[in-house]
Amino acid sequence: MLEVEDIHAYYGEAHVVQGASLQVAAGEVVALLGRNGMGKTTLIRALMGMAPPQLRSGKVRWNGTSLVGLRPNEIAARRIALVPQGRRLFASLTVVEHLTLLKPASANTGWTMQRVFGLFPRLAERRGHRGNQLSGGERQMLAIGRALMLDPELILMDEPSEGLAPAMVQRVEDVVLELKATGLAILMVEQNLYSALTTADRIYVMEAGRMVAETTGAAANANPELLHRHLGVT
Ligand SMILES: Nc1ncnc2c1ncn2[C@@H]1O[C@H](COP(=O)(O)OP(=O)(O)OP(=O)(O)O)[C@@H](O)[C@H]1O
Ligand SMILES: [Mg+2]
Repeated sequence: MLEVEDIHAYYGEAHVVQGASLQVAAGEVVALLGRNGMGKTTLIRALMGMAPPQLRSGKVRWNGTSLVGLRPNEIAARRIALVPQGRRLFASLTVVEHLTLLKPASANTGWTMQRVFGLFPRLAERRGHRGNQLSGGERQMLAIGRALMLDPELILMDEPSEGLAPAMVQRVEDVVLELKATGLAILMVEQNLYSALTTADRIYVMEAGRMVAETTGAAANANPELLHRHLGVT
């Protein structure tokens, strides 16, 4: 279980995350919604130990142990993986190289390259293509596949649907549900309310660095107007 309590994160003197709290239970899909610039990525970076921003106060606990002060690789070793916004692939590395950078192709436990290819057959077809030769959807699959190779218990996805065509957005939703079915917990930053309504057990809305709404997926599906108001969706 991930427990984030009252965290404050800064870029220099700019106080961007202003007391945000959230929880993700084992096996749960949680969506973090919010308009551009509200601090979603900053929050994700802060809890992954990435700098900037600077995490100045608050608690981040994972299965009861504090993550504050740990480096991103130490947090990854505790089985929390990040799929960063914008995918962040290497232009000159191939699909296979991305997947085996941190784990050899010969690995045969947990998430293997073959298992990633089972989830994303398209990546198997493109195995020799380089990062800069992939479509947006293929890049997103590879970014998710690379995170899975860390055998996470919790995966943080920052706007996985950003810039994707509707069919690919739906594929990402399906993948989220398939991963949830394997027992993985997912914290997903989304601007697409409908993706969140399709996949999330619980939803938070962030505004100006704080949570301004928290609801269950079921309640939000029954009454999406509440979220429309916060998100400015018409
Ligand atoms: N490296 C940085 N240095 C200084 N300010 C930053 C930096 N990154 C982001 N900010 C500012 O912090 C605020 C929150 O940005 P953040 O990226 O967390 O928003 P977001 O909610 O993820 O938005 P989006 O949906 O557009 O990705 C914005 O005002 C942004 O301009
Ligand atoms: Mg962002």
